[in-house]
Amino acid sequence: MMGPWNVRTAATTLFLLVIAVLAGFYLGRREPPAGAISGKILYERYCASCHGTEGKGDGPAAETLQPKPPDLTQLPVYSLDALLQ
Ligand code: HEC
Repeated sequence: MMGPWNVRTAATTLFLLVIAVLAGFYLGRREPPAGAISGKILYERYCASCHGTEGKGDGPAAETLQPKPPDLTQLPVYSLDALLQ
């Protein structure tokens, strides 16, 4: 039988377990390493010359290209249904 002491012990144990799990999530958060380059910067450096800074296919090099870079904001979303067709 669970007396009042055992109920309190169980509640304390559960409480400490919850704190430990939350602390684990908090301490386990991943920060990007110092010096990491964001996707925005990579896009601006390697893609925007053709695709434009907003991805609309109007970068400075776009008019010299055939075919033209597409408007990336209008690409269809690749759903599982679309892939299985
Ligand atoms: C030299 C110009 C140029 C650069 C730089 C460039 N692209 Fe493109 N991209 C194009 C052209 C032109 C097309 C269209 C090709 C076609 O229709 O056959 C294209 C097509 C694409 C598509 C395919 C769209 C579709 O129809 O499925 C994606 C996605 C894309 N580019 C992303 C990128 C990303 C991300 C980068 C940078 C890492 C990049 N491109 C850099 C010119 C460029």
